[in-house]
Amino acid sequence: MSQPYYADDAVTLYVGDCRDILPSLTERPDSCVTDPPYGETAAEWDRWPDGWVDAVAAVLPPSASLWCFGSARMFLEHAADFTGWRFAQEALWVKRNGSGPGSRDRLVKLHEWAYHWYRGKWSDLHHEWERERTTANRGSVRKASRSAEHQRDGRATTWVDDGMRQPRSVTYVVETPSVRYRKRHQDEKPLAVVEPLVRECTPPGGLVLDPMAGSGTTLEAAVACGRRAVGIEKDERSAEMIVMRLAQMGLAV
Ligand SMILES: C[S@@+](CC[C@H](N)C(=O)[O-])C[C@H]1O[C@@H](n2cnc3c(N)ncnc32)[C@H](O)[C@@H]1O
Repeated sequence: MSQPYYADDAVTLYVGDCRDILPSLTERPDSCVTDPPYGETAAEWDRWPDGWVDAVAAVLPPSASLWCFGSARMFLEHAADFTGWRFAQEALWVKRNGSGPGSRDRLVKLHEWAYHWYRGKWSDLHHEWERERTTANRGSVRKASRSAEHQRDGRATTWVDDGMRQPRSVTYVVETPSVRYRKRHQDEKPLAVVEPLVRECTPPGGLVLDPMAGSGTTLEAAVACGRRAVGIEKDERSAEMIVMRLAQMGLAV
């Protein structure tokens, strides 16, 4: 059985290949939020680990869903790996600073996707989008009106606008200076992008899995929103960074 590299009440971290470590996890995660290598750069860590989706599926109950960051090219290239999963929705993160290209035949990429996958019954999954405050039309009351023919009965009901909105699928996050200039990991994701995904699919107090944790953004997001996390990272230097990051949150000693 694998020994944790680090553990406290909220976070457990293993160092090694997730495909080797996942089978020995003792606790079943309630969800998975991960950001695999897209396989699009020459970086040593940027290699798609064949079989990781199956290894994750083997430890997740059917009531757990998977949010996976990636590029359209990555998802198309590895579509067969997601056989058995149903596609639920996608979130798009628009960045201020794009990546690439090294040549003039490709666009500068200003966005990244996160795709949401599930296997069991949609109604059995945890869903929690934190509603966002808006200033548009606040306080107005929409009057009941007759449903149009194509709408179901009772659709056009009266409602009071409380100024809150369901979040939208596109997030514009201007990375904080610490992420832009002092990245802990070459592909570190902003907390503001990851935290809503962790919250969406993991019940309060529940356990989220990130089998390719990088600098530990999913782990920090989990702690920040009252969830627990189990992370796996094959690069020991990144694991050290995760422990330092948790120490800055007052967790690791
Ligand atoms: C895109 S990065 C994750 C970045 C992370 N989301 C963050 O915000 O810092 C992918 C990570 O997966 C790790 N990795 C690649 N293959 C792995 C494997 N088979 N098992 C565990 N970790 C792996 C890499 O070392 C890299 O740190």
